[in-house]
Amino acid sequence: MEEEVSRLVDRLTLEEKLRLIRGAADPEGTATGYVPGVERLDIPPLRLVDGPLGVRAMGERATAFPSSIALASTWDPDLAREFGAALGREAAAHGQDVVLGPGMNLIRVPHCGRNFEYYSEDPHLTARIGVPTIDGIQSEGVAATAKHYVANNQETNRYDVSADVSERALRELYLPGFRAAVEDGDVLSVMSAYNRVNGTHMSDHERLLQDVLKDEWGFDGVVVSDWWGTRSAVAAAEAGLDLEMPGVGIEAFLPEEMPAQGADDGGAELPDLDDLEGMVDSVDADAGGGPLPPIPEFPAYFGDPLREAIESGDVDEAVVDEKVRRVLRLVDRLGRLEGDAPEGTLDTPEHRRLARDVAVEGSVLLANDGVLPLDGGDSIGVIGPNADAAKLGGGGSSEVSPLVETSPLEGLAERFDEVAFERGAEPIAESSFFNPTEDGQADADASIEDAVALAESVDCAVVVAQDDATEFRDRPDLALPGEQDALIEAVADAAERTVVVLRTSGPVTMPWLESVDAVLETWYPGQADGEALAAVLSGDADPGGRLPVTFGRSADDYPTAGEEAFPGVDGVASYDEGVFVGYRHFDAADVDPLFPFGHGLSYATVEYGDVTVTETEDGFEVAATVRNVGDRAGTEVVQVYAGTAAAPVPCPERELVGFEAVSLEPGTETTVRIPVEREAFAYYDDADGWTVPDGTNDLVVGRSSRDIEAAFRVEC
Ligand code: GLC
Repeated sequence: MEEEVSRLVDRLTLEEKLRLIRGAADPEGTATGYVPGVERLDIPPLRLVDGPLGVRAMGERATAFPSSIALASTWDPDLAREFGAALGREAAAHGQDVVLGPGMNLIRVPHCGRNFEYYSEDPHLTARIGVPTIDGIQSEGVAATAKHYVANNQETNRYDVSADVSERALRELYLPGFRAAVEDGDVLSVMSAYNRVNGTHMSDHERLLQDVLKDEWGFDGVVVSDWWGTRSAVAAAEAGLDLEMPGVGIEAFLPEEMPAQGADDGGAELPDLDDLEGMVDSVDADAGGGPLPPIPEFPAYFGDPLREAIESGDVDEAVVDEKVRRVLRLVDRLGRLEGDAPEGTLDTPEHRRLARDVAVEGSVLLANDGVLPLDGGDSIGVIGPNADAAKLGGGGSSEVSPLVETSPLEGLAERFDEVAFERGAEPIAESSFFNPTEDGQADADASIEDAVALAESVDCAVVVAQDDATEFRDRPDLALPGEQDALIEAVADAAERTVVVLRTSGPVTMPWLESVDAVLETWYPGQADGEALAAVLSGDADPGGRLPVTFGRSADDYPTAGEEAFPGVDGVASYDEGVFVGYRHFDAADVDPLFPFGHGLSYATVEYGDVTVTETEDGFEVAATVRNVGDRAGTEVVQVYAGTAAAPVPCPERELVGFEAVSLEPGTETTVRIPVEREAFAYYDDADGWTVPDGTNDLVVGRSSRDIEAAFRVEC
């Protein structure tokens, strides 16, 4: 392969080389990014397509899988790989070569607008879900893209904010997911983030792109910029950016006429340029992030500016050759130089089942006083402003237009004999980049009184509530938008039994928690929303999920509560919390969460038997016997946390270092064995790098980060 690539590089003209390292408008109009080939040398074009939740080929439809945070909530790497493979097949079916996903940024800010596209506040869980997803995608002859490298943890002022973050926090929290994507997942592409890190834009960041990603980790794939996320020609070229996207101005990028997005309604046109830029500006201003730098005027630094820099001798042509080599290596690894392009498959029964299974396994039963599962003969009152629509995802580049979808109302009406519906409040507007909800969606018959009357008349009220998250904007707070809190309170006062179903992008506050009988978090469940919800509420399936993020009692409980931390002051977000993000912070600050990281209930009743830790050559092995003493099958996720008590620097009380999800039939037991390498106890020291503290450290085993079944002292 290398010889073939080198041979091609030697034969390309400078002009042809520059065409291979920046985007152009896709003549077919379906790709998110397009690299024209070089016909003279049989180099085919390359198509890149969003996104992490399913394929968004412009004007096309595809399976709308559950959001990434739902996939992480399954704590099931095998399922993640299955999902990745299905996403790869659907991209191939759409004639696309590179999927712009998974999103692997750490969830640092609980109300970041893109948390639904990311996995977790924990780097270990992020890696354990991201790597198999990448492996699955790439197993289908399509490249995956680990994005957005790195520390892109907020939407406010995203094009310019500088994440001022310590090397230790980068190494221990923000980089590990990307490192695993490269070292374990062999990811073929990494997308540089819009933001700055310690003052330098990621697309110009030589230390993180060249020294760390390429030299230290050995990444030999392509660093692709985020869209209009390139900030220079020479600095970016020298820093290790390989491919500038989209390479064309926004007018060329958003074709005038978009093919119909909606099968039946002729679809909504894309917002026109003013709206789009207006949306971006206004949206960001709404978030109080200050004026957004306009989408960069000059969309193709790797065109004339780079050519001039080469001709003037500012940049050596060998620098361009290295970029071309990486692009051609990716094309070759996908088999495209030999003309191999996988057929792929789209919207198959397998993909539909998978969309349902991820939604089911990603559902987290937060609270249940025994009201769940419901009895098939129960009369159900489905209440909620958007309960008659599936929650496909959030707004922005990750949006997918499915071929089928089931709303909670449809799913429950299919499964239960007696189901009635009341909206109860104004529909919650859904931010969308491609299908903005027309104004005037207000539904006159949405009255809380009618919802209360229904609640009084049924065996169980099921209130479906949701938030509204989107790229470009962080949520204003952790509260459910609109009148949903009031609606839930009123229904709970009236109903015999009340189940709340949350379809949110991350943590939300629950002022009504003590008044309701059960709370199920389903995140953005995608097209199988209602089907999965009915399976879980009826007990046909167990809610297998565990929280990948801490649910705090208020935004103030998080380390990002201060303005300096988020959204930042004068364009700088200070990551002064260091490694104390998420549960690491809640533990260190001794703050009681509403629901802790790793929490989730099951319909099974699982007891822990023997739990042992034995020393092995590489570290330790945890063996835990778990037994289902209940009368229903269910899932247990055995979690292992390490505490580096022996470290000479402040360390989190405990950090996830291993886990295994198991399903148990009633009356059965199993012993899970979880390896913990000695390196899992390492902390990052600026002077000495990764250091395993000699001495006595802790290993704890439990059902969540706060519900510990067994604790051990180990000698490292
Ligand atoms: C967007 C996003 C990125 C996406 C790209 C193409 O702005 O930041 O995740 O893949 O541009 O749509």
